[in-house]
Amino acid sequence: MEVPYLDLSYVNLNHKAALLEAVERVIDSGWTILSKEVVEFEKRWASYVGTRHAIGVANGLDAMIIALEVLGVGPGDEVIVPSNTYIATWLAVSRVGAKVIPVEPDIASFNISANAIHKAISPKTKAAIVVHLYGRPCPMYEIMEMAESSGIYIIEDNAQAQGAHLDGQMTGSFGHINATSFYPGKNFGALGDAGIITTNNEEWADQCKVYRNYGSQKKYENELLGYNSRLDEVQAAMLSVKLEFLKENNVLRTHIANTYNEQLAGIDKVLLPSVSQGNVWHIYPILLEDRAALINYLKENGIGTLIHYPIPAHLQKAYAHLGYQLGDFPIAEKIAAEVLSLPIYPGMSREQVFYVCEKIKDFYK
Ligand SMILES: Cc1ncc(COP(=O)(O)O)c(C=O)c1O
Repeated sequence: MEVPYLDLSYVNLNHKAALLEAVERVIDSGWTILSKEVVEFEKRWASYVGTRHAIGVANGLDAMIIALEVLGVGPGDEVIVPSNTYIATWLAVSRVGAKVIPVEPDIASFNISANAIHKAISPKTKAAIVVHLYGRPCPMYEIMEMAESSGIYIIEDNAQAQGAHLDGQMTGSFGHINATSFYPGKNFGALGDAGIITTNNEEWADQCKVYRNYGSQKKYENELLGYNSRLDEVQAAMLSVKLEFLKENNVLRTHIANTYNEQLAGIDKVLLPSVSQGNVWHIYPILLEDRAALINYLKENGIGTLIHYPIPAHLQKAYAHLGYQLGDFPIAEKIAAEVLSLPIYPGMSREQVFYVCEKIKDFYK
């Protein structure tokens, strides 16, 4: 049996006719930039997440950069980030000229806590970016309470957690201004690059619209140093089609994660992810020593796996100038050395899930 790490056919091919119809709608309209489809999808996304505003941009990295710009974060400012995240979280901070202040996650949740952020606050701290890593919500009530009393801004990086929630409130609606990616492999993905910013602040929302469009509101009048980062009209049209299925797709992911949790329990050498409220299981991460042997065994048996992420941001060449060494962030380093992502995607059959479990159990027999 073959089990790829990820297969997008269920979430895309299944809706081919509706997606083509959406593209046709854009072609027929004659408008391909920032038109009806973008406005419509922004409305739908804001309503889904529960914020007053949503501003479509070209990708998740730009969403975070523009959110930081709007908050006025720049040179001389510090921004707290998790030590274990996809590098985009750090890059956004570096791009606006601010300094990244990494804090270590909780090994049990992979996420950073209000307390960890609080300890890293200095007079220069302007904001913290919290990442709902692997689809698991950060403790947002505590984080927002701490942020209000400390006077810092919170940006949620919701790229891995579309549809996640705490007591029914969606991630992406807690922070002052929030960013997400609709990269195709996310829980909710476009058919190319796309992203969005969410906020309840009207002034910031208007500013985001100026930033994404060359710093311009009126054609050929540029009021600030903006970007070209508009959500594509065709992607917006297709995202509106796919939004209807996000909820049920997250339920399918949860079924798979539940099966992994049941079937893999009791293997001494494998630490399973702890269960939490509102997790949408973008990734099913296990921790184990001697990962390479299991990866090879699964590969020989037709099963794909990935590592999210093999090199923590502080040890990447791109951040060599910060002078961090191995040992500076031991939890991030441990996760990078031991984490393994098992296949999880809507459309993965029950037989495929059980096959993966059986092969992992065989390996440890
Ligand atoms: C946690 C996180 N933040 C940000 C991004 C950046 O999104 P994009 O690739 O759309 O720029 C990604 C994914 O790529 C991500 O996983």
